[in-house]
Amino acid sequence: MSLLTGSHILSSAQFSRSDLEQIFALAEQMEPIAQRQVRCNVLDGAVLANLFFEPSTRSRISFGAAFARLGGRVLDTTGVQNSSISKGESLRDTSRVIAGYVDVIVLRHPEIGAAHDFASSTSVPVINGGDGAGEHPTQALLDVYTMGKELRGRKVRSLDGSIVTVVGDLKHGRTVHSLIRLLSLYDGITIRLVSSADLRLPPDLLAQMIEQGVKVIETDSLESGLRGADVVYATRMQLERFDPSGGAAFPASNFNIDAAVVQRWCVPDVVIMHPLPRDSRASANELSMDLDGHPSLAIFRQAHNGVPIRMALFAMILGVAERVQETLEPVGWYVPPSLMR
Ligand code: CP
Repeated sequence: MSLLTGSHILSSAQFSRSDLEQIFALAEQMEPIAQRQVRCNVLDGAVLANLFFEPSTRSRISFGAAFARLGGRVLDTTGVQNSSISKGESLRDTSRVIAGYVDVIVLRHPEIGAAHDFASSTSVPVINGGDGAGEHPTQALLDVYTMGKELRGRKVRSLDGSIVTVVGDLKHGRTVHSLIRLLSLYDGITIRLVSSADLRLPPDLLAQMIEQGVKVIETDSLESGLRGADVVYATRMQLERFDPSGGAAFPASNFNIDAAVVQRWCVPDVVIMHPLPRDSRASANELSMDLDGHPSLAIFRQAHNGVPIRMALFAMILGVAERVQETLEPVGWYVPPSLMR
């Protein structure tokens, strides 16, 4: 049994610093499996339902890959139009039904609170894979895991005492809402929030951070946000969450982070992250593709860390964390040498 056995994962507010340390230690043990150096079948016979009622690439595939790499089977549904929700079925009915089919459920849904609603009606653990502009707790876990790993080899060796700058659409970005809560668990951390006035962090979340004694600085100046930061976490404008019918204009983003900006304002060993997807259209003006060969760019390592983190969570939730090592076997198929890190 582990700290998460039988638990839902709905919000990053449910984790303590000690929980993070246990999850990250297990994720490190999962890395050789994620990198196909060894295989594991500790979840042989278990079934995951991956219910994605909003678009996804990384979360859906990495949850599925994590479960499959532990020997489990994955059943997917994507899009409201392909499920009986399109016929008027409630989330609660869907939840009760699917609990009879599988051992654990991942849900992504466009409405804030949908995962809580879903979890309240089911007998199996539910993981919030993103609820509208609410939260994305497993993304935040892999983000903080990545920050820790990337900082280890640099001047500032840990998130304790570091400066983390979060840039972009802080109002609608669910990864940001979950990340801020986890960052607040680190001692002496400074969180800089760079956005335009209309895209600031929700006031209740900001107030909560300040009440906890976290040093939070809001600014609309990209330069003052980036100067001296140890980690820069860029985000996409969540255009799908704007409601033009309500008269709200799409924001004119001026938070373009490209190689010239990094050279001018960032410390040489800054860590640059982004939860992805990155908007690669010329009009998007966010994290630039011209940084793709830059040594500070951690975005692909970050995305790949989603697999060991989600493996650790599944092993803990299903109570098999202690049995992972005893079920390891050699890999019998071709693995590209670049993966055998
Ligand atoms: N970071 C993330 O949630 O990506 P997807 O929307 O592709 O799952």
